[in-house]
Amino acid sequence: MTAEPAVSTDVPPPTPTELRGAMGAFASGVTVVTGVDSGEPVGFACQSFASVSLEPPLILFCAGHHGRTWPRIRRSGRFCVNVLGEEQSEVCGRFGSREGRKFDGLEWDLSRWGAPALRDVLLRVHCEVHAVHAAGDHDVVIGRVLEVETPAEGRPLIFFRGRFGVEHPEPAVPLWGNGDRWG
Ligand SMILES: Cc1cc2nc3c(=O)[nH]c(=O)nc-3n(C[C@H](O)[C@H](O)[C@H](O)COP(=O)(O)O)c2cc1C
Repeated sequence: MTAEPAVSTDVPPPTPTELRGAMGAFASGVTVVTGVDSGEPVGFACQSFASVSLEPPLILFCAGHHGRTWPRIRRSGRFCVNVLGEEQSEVCGRFGSREGRKFDGLEWDLSRWGAPALRDVLLRVHCEVHAVHAAGDHDVVIGRVLEVETPAEGRPLIFFRGRFGVEHPEPAVPLWGNGDRWG
């Protein structure tokens, strides 16, 4: 046995398209990150949500530099991560697209922390922006958790191979197209 690799590692890294497609195999829940900027509710669909630390209580999400909403939330300093339930794919659709007014016709409440609290979600994590680390074409946003709420029980909305749920055959045709750049 030697420490030399048996095969060459002279392999190009994945292109953005290859990496996005491959990462679709990592099934996750879906959230909508909301905030208020200049009195206006804002939000975007966000899959890259994770717990970071229990003490102090910290979570993270990653926000692409192309998004219009994250700079507005950053300015306000507070946000709410709303974890969607299985029946809320329409909510994901409206917040995952650059088209349309995201809050039109949607019922929501203003939380005590000043961010939109979506209804019927499995979990709300109310946060203040704790730290922001630029990483490539995204910001890794660390939120300090102010309060958690579990408004609804039930099954989660799952995003897998660019579509909702895990029951569809592969290879899946990505659900998101039309200039929206996810999945
Ligand atoms: C299921 C799903 C998950 C997404 N996850 C993220 C994410 O983790 N980070 C991100 O920056 N954008 C994510 N997006 C893309 C944004 O929601 C999308 O670019 C949105 O149009 C941004 O809106 P904005 O330009 O108003 O900020 C996701 C979209 C979908 C549909």
